[in-house]
Amino acid sequence: MIIAPSVLSADFANLQRDIEMLNRSKAAWIHIDVMDGVFVPNISFGIPVTAAIKKHTTKFMDVHLMIVQPEKYLQAFRNAGADLISVHYEAVTHLDSCIHRIKATGAQAGVVLNPATPVHVLKDVIPLLDLVLIMSVNPGFGGQKFIPYATQKVAETKALITASGSSAKIEVDGGVSLSNARELFNAGADVLVAGNAVFSAPDPEAMIEKLLAV
Ligand code: DX5
Ligand code: ZN
Repeated sequence: MIIAPSVLSADFANLQRDIEMLNRSKAAWIHIDVMDGVFVPNISFGIPVTAAIKKHTTKFMDVHLMIVQPEKYLQAFRNAGADLISVHYEAVTHLDSCIHRIKATGAQAGVVLNPATPVHVLKDVIPLLDLVLIMSVNPGFGGQKFIPYATQKVAETKALITASGSSAKIEVDGGVSLSNARELFNAGADVLVAGNAVFSAPDPEAMIEKLLAV
């Protein structure tokens, strides 16, 4: 079980302080939410901020690209320190090619499904993947309400992975909290992203431990 705090909810004017907090914490991954204002209705940060975070951490850098034409920027995010790069199914026309291009950079490859995208679209590429990311909110903003049917999608993804013999991990992103973490792990999730739940907690490090102990 892995918790991946999203720096989208960090204090951008105190990013080094917040990354150092994550370094001390039991979070194994750091989740990097890149938004372009086109694929999603919000702009966050991009390559230079990702590279700046990398300088201050040895944690696994989990980069979630919420951008159109992600294939243009794969090598740049790898150079900026991404250990895993996830692209949205909905943003990529030639998904098989894009997955291979992520792997060619040396990064692990993930595919993200929006809430309304069914799991079965991954049937043919699942053996290629290191990660399937199930969105449990519509992407674009931190602090949104968890969409309950995401839990069923995690179970469907787990079944697909088991049937195909894939070694892909399952990650869930959006509205994760102490109230749904247990059901998500039970359904087959390996990694839970947590933005608001961690950074708005009075003691973020303790919240990470609580999420791991649900
Ligand atoms: C949503 C992002 C998420 C988000 C998670 O577009 O992909 O990673 O920041 O934040 P919380 O945990 O606050 O929903
Ligand atoms: Zn994300």
